[in-house]
Amino acid sequence: MLTSEERTEIEAEIAHYEQKQAACIEAMKIVQKHRGWLSDDGIRDVAEIMEMTPAELDSVATFYNLLFRQPVGRHVVMVCDSVSCWIMGYENIRQYLMDKLEIGMGETTQDGRFTLLPICCLGNCDRAPAMMVGEDLHQDLTPEKIDAILEKYA
Ligand code: FES
Repeated sequence: MLTSEERTEIEAEIAHYEQKQAACIEAMKIVQKHRGWLSDDGIRDVAEIMEMTPAELDSVATFYNLLFRQPVGRHVVMVCDSVSCWIMGYENIRQYLMDKLEIGMGETTQDGRFTLLPICCLGNCDRAPAMMVGEDLHQDLTPEKIDAILEKYA
């Protein structure tokens, strides 16, 4: 069941649209923000208020790569693997992150602090290589910069 806080935030989003279903991504993001990820229960809770089926929402959630259908760490590190970042050293950045965090892509650190995922172009190609940690964009990445960036996320 949605908490009263989740319901209030979702209703505020719905108010922006003529059709409530248009707010379905925002509604799922709200539930994810409160619960860390979107479980089947989370999908069912959103489906009820959006007047959609869980299957409809699931198909949106699995298409949209900022919605997590499996548990993730407290901070999700999304490394851009599109063309400009490839050219500017994505492979070294990815390897450095995997070595530093001692996980592979798609995995979560033992302490639950970080999950490492690929993401397509972040629209920041002129400052490649780039990644996001949570909602924060980081650019012109080097291994030294990554050390300092990760320290900010407890
Ligand atoms: S290719 Fe990485 S930000 Fe565009």
